[in-house]
Amino acid sequence: MMRLTICQTRARLSGQIGDLAFLRDFWPLGFHGLCSATHMPFGHSQAASSLTMVGGTPAAVPRSFRKHSTSALHQGKTALMQRFFIERLGHQGDGIAKGPVYVPGTLPGEEIEGQATAGVITTPKIVTPSDDRVRPPCSHAKACGGCQLQHASDSFVSHWKVEVVRNALSAHGLTPSIDGPVTSEPRSRRRASFSARRTKKGALAGFHQKRSDIVVSVPNCQLVHPQIATALPLVEQLAITSASRKGELSVLVTRSEGGLDVSVTGGKPLNDELRQALPELANAYDLPRLTWDGETVALRHPPAQRFGPARVVPPAGAFLQATEEGQRALQDAVSRITKGAARIADLFAGCGTFALPLAQGAEVHAVEGDRHMLRALDQGWRQAQGLKRVTTETRDLFRTPLLPDELRSFGAVVIDPPRAGAQAQVAEIARSEVPRIAYVSCNPVTFARDAAHLQANGFDLRGIVVIDQFRWSTHVELVAEFIRQD
Ligand SMILES: C[S@@+](CC[C@H](N)C(=O)[O-])C[C@H]1O[C@@H](n2cnc3c(N)ncnc32)[C@H](O)[C@@H]1O
Repeated sequence: MMRLTICQTRARLSGQIGDLAFLRDFWPLGFHGLCSATHMPFGHSQAASSLTMVGGTPAAVPRSFRKHSTSALHQGKTALMQRFFIERLGHQGDGIAKGPVYVPGTLPGEEIEGQATAGVITTPKIVTPSDDRVRPPCSHAKACGGCQLQHASDSFVSHWKVEVVRNALSAHGLTPSIDGPVTSEPRSRRRASFSARRTKKGALAGFHQKRSDIVVSVPNCQLVHPQIATALPLVEQLAITSASRKGELSVLVTRSEGGLDVSVTGGKPLNDELRQALPELANAYDLPRLTWDGETVALRHPPAQRFGPARVVPPAGAFLQATEEGQRALQDAVSRITKGAARIADLFAGCGTFALPLAQGAEVHAVEGDRHMLRALDQGWRQAQGLKRVTTETRDLFRTPLLPDELRSFGAVVIDPPRAGAQAQVAEIARSEVPRIAYVSCNPVTFARDAAHLQANGFDLRGIVVIDQFRWSTHVELVAEFIRQD
């Protein structure tokens, strides 16, 4: 009687009040873990046969069922263990079994056991590992939430990222050739956003634990450039100096030609004490610039970035491509697509990642919503040698996209919008006579929407190269070439 009560409770908790007659049918068999069957498709004959294995040996489960469905296993009186088959990888990198049940840290084709809570299994036991499962290269992989796919082979991740792009496009009937991915090396990220908290003993700096606000120390991080990792003691020092007892600092550290450019948010408001202490820290750690909640508290030398022949000093925290390698791959693809154009429009231009290298061979009009970034771009252009004319325009391209008349003089357009894509601007390009487009995207879903609109309006999607600057993450980037047909 007691056992039945547990089963009923679990059934209710799981949101699936099952067929209790089914429970009664199997009770005489002495199957103590029977209550786990409340997650199963009751009346399913294969499910029933799997339940007859008291003690739950996997071999007793029919193969077809194990491969394609979810089964229940007995394990003690309190734990509710079930067996799942991972069918695919979700966009957040979680394995997904029928249900759907999300199982972080698993791969398609794997059989796992675990206890699902609200459709998630956080600590799965891998019963049958995938051939693509590898030992995570980073010693922090288990706890740290910085990477999602360290347990997968490079070839699996590469293939998966290309398939993410292919599937997004095929949903719109597009089937272009896809090259790549061009994947950045480990320890090549030029920027990291660390979190830091004060502790009883001092401070703790690192990344957040998976699905948590707990900070994990990451001295052996395999993602960030080694120079970025040297900032961790400084980040801790910043927390000791300036974090409130319960608050958390967010510290953005960027490699620059002048050293580590550091920008802090979430600390105490600037007071006289901090105005004195922070520049001292910048000196001690030889920082070119230290910014506090947007205010520059130390500027010792320019934290410049190089875009082609130009040196640009971006505003603190401004967008930058994630790795130098990835940036070069993007620039090469954009320059190949726009080659031969005498005038190029660079839309969502940022600080000039594309505009300035392109100005070696063409006049460029750079349009961007953030005037500070454009000012940095303009100064970089003015100080560089041998570049053609670069003009800048601050403009909200979502609300007031460039119109066909304004686009008429350009032989090519580069467009690199944020994750939302560029629906309004793409609608105007589709109406224009622009002969070719280099579309850089960090979101295959919005890209596919925009690509379908261009394709339906006379552009041919000639090809795509996938660029992976975010190794071990689910993030996917690409450059696409469109040529006007009519
Ligand atoms: C993905 S970043 C690309 C920046 C630049 N192309 C690069 O590679 O460094 C997108 C840029 O779009 C800008 N942006 C975002 N929303 C915008 C809008 N509504 N209008 C114009 N620019 C916008 C951001 O400031 C950012 O610089």
